[in-house]
Amino acid sequence: MNLDKKLRNKDILSIADLEKDEIELIFKVTEDLKKDKYQDLLKTKILALIFHKLSTRTRVSFEAGMYHLGGNTIFLSSKEIQLKRGETVEDTARVLSRYVDGVVIRTFEHDDIVRFAKASSIPVINGLTDLMHPCQVISDLFTIKELKGKLKGLKIVFLGDGANNLAHSWLFGAAKTGLDLIISAPAPYWPDKKLMAHAKSILEKEGHGSIEIDQNVERAVSNADIIYTDVWTSMGQEEEEDKRKDIFGKFQVNASLMSKAKKDAVFMHCLPAHRGEEVTEDVLESPQSVVFPQAENRMHVQKAIITLLMRGRE
Ligand code: CP
Ligand code: NVA
Repeated sequence: MNLDKKLRNKDILSIADLEKDEIELIFKVTEDLKKDKYQDLLKTKILALIFHKLSTRTRVSFEAGMYHLGGNTIFLSSKEIQLKRGETVEDTARVLSRYVDGVVIRTFEHDDIVRFAKASSIPVINGLTDLMHPCQVISDLFTIKELKGKLKGLKIVFLGDGANNLAHSWLFGAAKTGLDLIISAPAPYWPDKKLMAHAKSILEKEGHGSIEIDQNVERAVSNADIIYTDVWTSMGQEEEEDKRKDIFGKFQVNASLMSKAKKDAVFMHCLPAHRGEEVTEDVLESPQSVVFPQAENRMHVQKAIITLLMRGRE
């Protein structure tokens, strides 16, 4: 595979960090790795995973992917490292930089991962913070392109909590690739104003795509190519679960809502799903649902990301 140096040693904390051609390069490498699963591109390399929240897909897809590429992983939960006993993020970053070749971090405060990246000399990948989940959306963009053959000009509607990590990542996913994004969420669960302004400034510069908020679900999904949702209560918000079920009830994706979208619209969900809450069982299990191929692509896309970031490090 002919890999250029474009993404070498870079951090991916948000999709805003990536240039359009870097996203295209990730897709190109993903296509190759999806066809040819086992390639020794990261032989001798070590990827650490620091996870302060639970994970099925992100953890397992990074670990499996690293093994396919001939490398190794070290999984570190909050219980295992000295961060829990007060060692600083910066000291942890400086020490790990001397042992491993890259790190995936899943945590609460986005600022912690920014501080880690500033202090470390290895590539840092955001495996989800309260603010952003870039690997999920980069991978979802790949899935959409694979299914629809393009991104520019497609209409995607994100329903539910418009202020969560997925909604925020979609702002930048759309801005960088030219999707027309509608966030259908109740006020005040709308995206952070500063992030919204940043994403809009990117799409204006690129001269493509659009981002809107629409609380009217039926109007929002009309003519949509992709209907996307996520849990109403994200990790760390468990105390608000009952309140959120009431607030987000009318943003549920059900068969009646799906029928308002285009005939060939697809249903996407980052998973884990709560059947009967943000999406009904029949929609999740319908032929329009692509949630499992979508989950599979996490592994292929992240293999491309770690290959591009970590390859060639001494
Ligand atoms: N979609 C996603 O990130 O899933 P996990 O929380 O299982 O990693
Ligand atoms: N918004 C969800 C995404 C889970 C992959 C959460 O943060 O829990």
